[in-house]
Amino acid sequence: MNRLSEQAGNVTKETAIQGGVELNLTNCFARITAYNATTLRVRVSKTAFSSDHSFAIDNLNASGKLQVAKQEGTDKIYQTDSLIVKVKTHPFRVSVYNRNNELLCADESDLGVSWFGNQVSCYKQLHADEKFLGLGEKTGNINRRGSFYQNWNSDVPAYASNADPLYATIPFFIGIHDSVTYGIFFDNTHKSYFNFGGGADEELFHFGADDGEMNYYVFGGSTVAKIIKDYTNLTGRTPMPPLWSLGFQQSRWGYDNQEQLLSIAKTFREKKLPADVIVSDINYMDNYKVFTWSNKYPDVKGMLVQMKQLGFDIVTIIDPGIKVEKGYKAYEDGLIGNHFAKYPSGKPYIGHVWPGRCHFPDFTKESTRLWWGANFKQPYIDNGVKGFWNDMNEPAAWGREFPNLIEFGEGKERQTLFSVKNAYGLLMAKATYEGTKLGMNGHRPFVLTRASYSGIQKYSAQWTGDNASTDDHMLLGFRLLNSMGLSGIPYIGMDIGGFIGNPSPELFVRWLSLGVYTPLFRNHTCINYNYREPWLFGESNTIKIKAILEHRYQLLPHLYSAFYQAHKTGLPINRMLPIDYTFDDNAYDPKYQHQFLFGDGMMVCPVASSQSITEVYLPGTTDWYRLSNDKVYAGGSNYFVESPLEDVPVFVKSGAIVPMQSIVQNTKETGDGILYLHVYKGSLQNSYTYYEDDGETYNYEKAVFYKRLIVYNPLKGIVTLKAKEGSYSSKFQKIKLVLHGFDKKEIVSQDLFDSEMNIKL
Ligand code: NOJ
Repeated sequence: MNRLSEQAGNVTKETAIQGGVELNLTNCFARITAYNATTLRVRVSKTAFSSDHSFAIDNLNASGKLQVAKQEGTDKIYQTDSLIVKVKTHPFRVSVYNRNNELLCADESDLGVSWFGNQVSCYKQLHADEKFLGLGEKTGNINRRGSFYQNWNSDVPAYASNADPLYATIPFFIGIHDSVTYGIFFDNTHKSYFNFGGGADEELFHFGADDGEMNYYVFGGSTVAKIIKDYTNLTGRTPMPPLWSLGFQQSRWGYDNQEQLLSIAKTFREKKLPADVIVSDINYMDNYKVFTWSNKYPDVKGMLVQMKQLGFDIVTIIDPGIKVEKGYKAYEDGLIGNHFAKYPSGKPYIGHVWPGRCHFPDFTKESTRLWWGANFKQPYIDNGVKGFWNDMNEPAAWGREFPNLIEFGEGKERQTLFSVKNAYGLLMAKATYEGTKLGMNGHRPFVLTRASYSGIQKYSAQWTGDNASTDDHMLLGFRLLNSMGLSGIPYIGMDIGGFIGNPSPELFVRWLSLGVYTPLFRNHTCINYNYREPWLFGESNTIKIKAILEHRYQLLPHLYSAFYQAHKTGLPINRMLPIDYTFDDNAYDPKYQHQFLFGDGMMVCPVASSQSITEVYLPGTTDWYRLSNDKVYAGGSNYFVESPLEDVPVFVKSGAIVPMQSIVQNTKETGDGILYLHVYKGSLQNSYTYYEDDGETYNYEKAVFYKRLIVYNPLKGIVTLKAKEGSYSSKFQKIKLVLHGFDKKEIVSQDLFDSEMNIKL
């Protein structure tokens, strides 16, 4: 048989449905619905819509209003309060405009939606100046224009700097052209494709998947931040993380006994190197069996008590593979409970990973997720472990393919790895988060994952997998993080120093000094390489490292406030330049694409370890201050600046307010009780939302937090701390203003009151 493509065809019937309209077409069915004024959904399917499902979105009810506006010839025009949707009926083509009638995105007139076998694609018009951002953890330039990507979550140790796919699938991107912005989220977990004008034709781009529906959301917000807000409104936002997890995390594959973990923790304290977490990789398990401890950890509870006394928390790794071994509880219970993915014959699937032959939990089933989550209680939670690192969840069996025919779910929900693979990591993280949250009696677990799908931010932090110890990889890592942040995932990081290889002392110091500005701040390395604890790089580097770690702890009030913003709005902590400077071409220049804003007002410029002079771009129309020496640079220009190892280029925007604290050795220490409010002189009024809570429970959901708006008014020369909101008391008793660019250097500390405070500069 010669297979040809199938086209959607013409609209033959229109029916009103909740939130929008259903259209019958010659060869398929379509639905266009509104989720709010700036969020539309387009579904096209060869079969009638009988059910609806998403791994990413919890509430699929279209609660917005899409109204019929008018008919133009045979074209149908619909609208929300913010958007206009034009549907050409012969053949079916969709285009979306804002209410100023500016085109955001439109189906390509000859192609639109089509199928090739079960593979479904949507072709769209490409605008001459169009740029694309997003897709989460993807290599290449942050501007995706001219590139082609696939999503098929894979285990890719020491990935090349142009490797694709990596571990995660975030099928969400933002298009920018003329003076408009829009976003598209293609919610389909099959192997998917995005071609942003990387094909032969410069006038179209397309996205599609190997099977499933053409099912995408269009976000028509007028700023990148609003599009991220709408995307995360749909797919969820990060909960507040446990504060301890934002401290320094020391990890290594290969730590393999209780004494070793304790002695590392003690060395941090002896050397006064601030840190909060020791991470235990697979060696803690009995023969790599998950939910067990090896006999090299004879007193886990005792170890955790000592860790606590030292001010440390522990994170343990967990893999999905469950060893096939008679008598092993997780295996036996898993079989009895019918919790494993299967061959079509009904036999549990077997793949080979660390412990040998393994079965793999079917995380698509709620019963399995509950079973999985409950398993954390006895070996981990009851002993005091609060962090759970989900690895190998692409799922991975050392780079070998799992067969597509493996089955998940029961009855009507039955499906194969072909449609589940890209969601497997998300579902494992969800099971881990929900189970450990339940088991921890109102305390926040820390979950870290390697594989992910859209929505992961509700459950977990994500790191960029097995990177390598090179400058290139360090810089690539910042591109990955910039893109992951834009794609809705704020809690992100990479293995500092590189997982594979031995970094030079210079590279390690540089990477660590940049790692200060990544939400997950973790030093991790592979078993085959040198030990990499921070004191192993020589005395002079230890001094630099100590200052770097101290700086991270000083910045925690700012980082935690930025997390609150992410929790409320979806705005990332690491913000690539196009988020704030969308229509400045320099923001997309590969020369500056590693740069990012770290929360409000701080600009970080990643630079290779060998480079002592660096070109940076400082956007906008206002001045920037170099963090280390207050030197002033006018905005809207590029500069060659010094970038010695001990002074990575970081700038603060004029008018910015940056809260800091005194140096502490871990997040449980209270320090000197003073909140240091750094204020950078500017000419425009600026405000900052300062946020604190207990750092460990969910009481913040009941307004047990300490939040206050801080306003800097340059005309009046006053900083105002508006009255506090929430019922939590600050851990700080005093406030001190540290002034930059002013005649005075500081305003001596004064008592911090809950009522409005005006401080004259
Ligand atoms: C692969 C992970 O990416 C790596 O970080 C970890 O150390 C090894 N698995 C061993 O668990």
